[in-house]
Amino acid sequence: MRAVTIKDEQLAVSEHPDPVPGTGEVLVAVRAAGLNGADMMQRIGRYPAPPGSPQDIPGMEFAGEVSVCGPGAQRFKLGDRVMGIVGGGGQAELVVVHERQLMPVPENLSWPQAGGVPEVFLTAHDALLTQAQLCLGERLLVHGGAGGVGTAAIQLGRLAGARVVATVRDTSLREQVTALGAEVIDPEDFVEHGPFDVVLELVGAPNLAANVQALAVGGRIVVIGVAAGAKTELNLLGLMAKRARIHGSMLRSRPLEEKAIASRRVEHEVLPALASGALTVPVHETFPLEQAVAAYDSFAAGGKLGKIVLVMSHAA
Ligand SMILES: NC(=O)c1ccc[n+]([C@@H]2O[C@H](COP(=O)([O-])OP(=O)(O)OC[C@H]3O[C@@H](n4cnc5c(N)ncnc54)[C@H](OP(=O)(O)O)[C@@H]3O)[C@@H](O)[C@H]2O)c1
Repeated sequence: MRAVTIKDEQLAVSEHPDPVPGTGEVLVAVRAAGLNGADMMQRIGRYPAPPGSPQDIPGMEFAGEVSVCGPGAQRFKLGDRVMGIVGGGGQAELVVVHERQLMPVPENLSWPQAGGVPEVFLTAHDALLTQAQLCLGERLLVHGGAGGVGTAAIQLGRLAGARVVATVRDTSLREQVTALGAEVIDPEDFVEHGPFDVVLELVGAPNLAANVQALAVGGRIVVIGVAAGAKTELNLLGLMAKRARIHGSMLRSRPLEEKAIASRRVEHEVLPALASGALTVPVHETFPLEQAVAAYDSFAAGGKLGKIVLVMSHAA
């Protein structure tokens, strides 16, 4: 099979042996695979894949068709449209994944849309609903609202009955983010738009002290992304006065059991809304597998709405 390959911090598309599914695993013929911030980090040697995942093939999400069911795998049959997260190896023509990490692809989703669902919708759902326990009527602030996780989180926040505010630094994207259901504000001004019950931090540490200031009493901050920095100073008195909580989370390094539980929750709570069209997957740009370098460069340049997705040449 061909796969995006990282060698000495350089990207190429190279031949690899076809992976073989083990017990409970499925071989998927990948049709589309979304790019994520983690891929950018892995490319420069800063975020190695967890043990058990291919170290040189990036890609944490994919969609495709079941090609082979390994021994004991029974959730899907040959040809089923599936999507899921992996610790790495998604940006390839073939990927092996445990069947419990797979979800069915709703009929109305195109391959590029489906390839951009798993990582960002699992991350946003887990952060907002499982960790922060976002409730009906609460006020949610999403930092970095135009990105993959941000566009998913805004829509999930609305679906959960929250009132959603989002920071978007690129002024040209603000109208489109508003259309997803958020009140869009300038990142500089967010404290004056509080108080917020839940803050989803997708940008990083520079926001943290002001996030605590902007919290309502009993508020929760979930730290998911730190591209703008990981270290900061915090006055804990502010946290105490708000009786606030700060959560942190990484999806990639979790064991199969936890990824399976998160996937089942998305399957039950999110897929029906994707299937009905209540939720959408904004795909900013697609690139053929062969143009992976251009896709990575486009992701790194920023200024996009939602996802950048690689599509395989055998895609329908
Ligand atoms: N913990 C986890 O398990 C997990 C899972 C998924 C993602 N993440 C992380 O969460 C973050 C968001 O993911 P994503 O897929 O939504 O990424 P993304 O598509 O690149 O979106 C990031 C958004 O944040 C905006 N942003 C504003 N200020 C920024 C700054 N100073 N530095 C960088 N970005 C800034 C970007 O705007 P511009 O377009 O103007 O740059 C972009 O709209 C990333 O850091 C990613 O690595 C973590």
